[in-house]
Formats: sequence, C-alpha cells, structure tokens
Amino acid sequence: MRIDIITTLPKLLEGPFSDSILKRAQQKGLVTVAVHDLRAYSTNKHRSTDDYAFGGGAGMVMMVEPIDRCLTALRAERTYDEVIYMSPDGELLTQSIANELSLKQNLILLCGHYKGVDERVRQHLITREISIGDYVLSGGELAAAVVADAVIRLLPGVLNDETSALTDSFQDGLVAPPVYTRPAEYKGWSVPEVLLSGNPARIEEWKQEQAVERTRKRRPNLLND
Ligand code: ADE
Repeated sequence: MRIDIITTLPKLLEGPFSDSILKRAQQKGLVTVAVHDLRAYSTNKHRSTDDYAFGGGAGMVMMVEPIDRCLTALRAERTYDEVIYMSPDGELLTQSIANELSLKQNLILLCGHYKGVDERVRQHLITREISIGDYVLSGGELAAAVVADAVIRLLPGVLNDETSALTDSFQDGLVAPPVYTRPAEYKGWSVPEVLLSGNPARIEEWKQEQAVERTRKRRPNLLND
C-alpha cells in the first residue's frame, strides 16, 4: 500500500512515521508513506498556497491551483483509489472505514487548514472527506496521521501477532475486554481468578462477557447500531 500526504506543514508529519510500528511497516516494505509539501506546487514567487476569501470573512483559503498541480503530478505516477480531504465536516472515522481503506492500494490524504480549501477542490478534485471527530484541529495533518496509523496497523504483517488487530476494540462491534500481566497480585489488587485457571474455554467465555458488559457500560450505542 502507498499513502501520499499533501500538506503545507510537512514537518508536522515527520514524527508519527519515524518511530515504532509505522516505521517498521515502511522498513518491511509493507507501506510507503510519502509527504508532499504543497508549497512546491505554488505558482507564485512567495510560494504561497492560500489567499484571501472572495466576499470577505476571516481567514485564508487554500488555493485550488497548487492542489490541482500536486494531484496531477501524483496521478501521473499511479492511479489512486481515493483522494481524501481531511475536514471536520467529513464522514466520521470509524474502525469500519479504517478496515475498508486498508484494502486499497494507493491513497492520497489532503490536509487543509481550518478555514478550509477553495470549494472547487471539494467539488472536483477529491473523492471523499473524513473527520476524526467533532472538534476542530488547526490543520488536517494530525488527522491524516491518525487515519494513516489506523489503516497501516491493519495491513498483514505489520503487527507481530497477526491476530492482534482482529481482537482490537471495535473489530467485532464491542470494546476490548480488560487485560492483566504479572504479578498476579500487587498491593492486594488481584487478577481475576479465571485468567489464572488455565481453562481456555472458561477464559474465552469470560472475555466475551467482559467485552459485552464493558460495551454496555461505556459505549451502549455500539450495541444498538
Ligand atoms: N481538520 C481540522 N479538524 C479536523 C478534524 N476534526 N478531522 C479531520 N480533519 C480536520
């Protein structure tokens, strides 16, 4: 899989992909993440990519031309399954969307700034809009990193234990059951006896019960959807 991220703030995206699971996934050749500085596609000498809004109003608007030029350059190299604009008014990211995106070959994530992009970008140049939650970030970069992380960890071979993404919260519409490690007792706080029983069927049954119970308490909406 390949993910191309278009941004005016490439430095913001250096951190998330330079460590741990996401870095190893790239080193193993399972994914390529390429960050593109939109300024390189600007047509003016100041390399600006935004301008005042027609009709007035506070805030700058990202211009259509640099974005179109950048997308044209990327599309000349390969075909993309989706061009996704990160926006607080997009479709809310869920595990099911992450699962769906993890099956694609090539994705583009376009990061905007909070006053947004010229509407013609949304009308003509993108295929989809995703929000990571009902709050406003100062730009789409952190949201793009969230989407890329949620997708990349699902790619076969990225996680050491191939089953671990399957037992994540949300994969079966439930939150995950509690987990414990050694010591079995600490300051009088003990691990549920069943987990020490060595009885796989009882343990499995307990985990399922806990997952349902936790979902009912914490996220009842998941049980109704
Ligand atoms: N850009 C600004 N806020 C955002 C959000 N909540 N989700 C996605 N992109 C954003």
